Amino acid sequence: MSREKPIKNLENEKIPRWGEPAQSVAPFVPTPLNVVKKMLEISEAGPEDTLFDLGCGDGRILFTAVEKFNVKKAIGIDLNPTMVSKVELMIEEKELEGRVEVHNKNFFNVDLTSATLVTLYLTTSGNSKLKPKFEEELSAGARVVSHDFPINGWNTAKENSPPHFTTGSHKIFFYSLPDAYANKEKKGQKSTWNRIRDRILKP
Ligand SMILES: C[S@@+](CC[C@H](N)C(=O)[O-])C[C@H]1O[C@@H](n2cnc3c(N)ncnc32)[C@H](O)[C@@H]1O
Repeated sequence: MSREKPIKNLENEKIPRWGEPAQSVAPFVPTPLNVVKKMLEISEAGPEDTLFDLGCGDGRILFTAVEKFNVKKAIGIDLNPTMVSKVELMIEEKELEGRVEVHNKNFFNVDLTSATLVTLYLTTSGNSKLKPKFEEELSAGARVVSHDFPINGWNTAKENSPPHFTTGSHKIFFYSLPDAYANKEKKGQKSTWNRIRDRILKP
């Protein structure tokens, strides 16, 4: 007689929203400081901003944003504990506790709803994996600026701007939400995948 497996009751299980998150999507390679400044200039970083650098490395974007652009808060996330300890030391040395934060986490598991500006230097495939998270969690008015790698399927922003900005051999891709994906989703309208997911997860 075959024994039937009991059906697992999923009602009280926490179902991850985007499946198993990817781990590292890029190695540590620092953005040159002149490119960091250009990224922050293009995105008009300022005192109203809560900046997230996803994969913050040695923290150069965080410190430049706070010290040179006076952003309200700069939060760095990195998988590499050595880089995170380095940034923690620098926060202490520069007495920037409360303005700069760093977390040794996988950024796919970090809540981005408070971000007004996101900086990236990852890979095109890494950016693609983050795209649904951005579309779900970032508010209208948030900006995303990416060194060298585009977010495929999004429209770059700034009226009359080129598809990307150039600093020496470096490219900078700048996006403003929700205009970056306005073709795909009208304001306030959910994407097909988001609608299907909502139907399954919220009976
Ligand atoms: C190319 S470096 C960029 C460093 C810094 N943002 C800059 O522009 O100078 C990419 C960083 O992303 C981190 N990283 C890659 N995947 C990650 C993930 N899933 N979660 C957190 N950090 C990640 C790596 O450890 C690395 O330090």
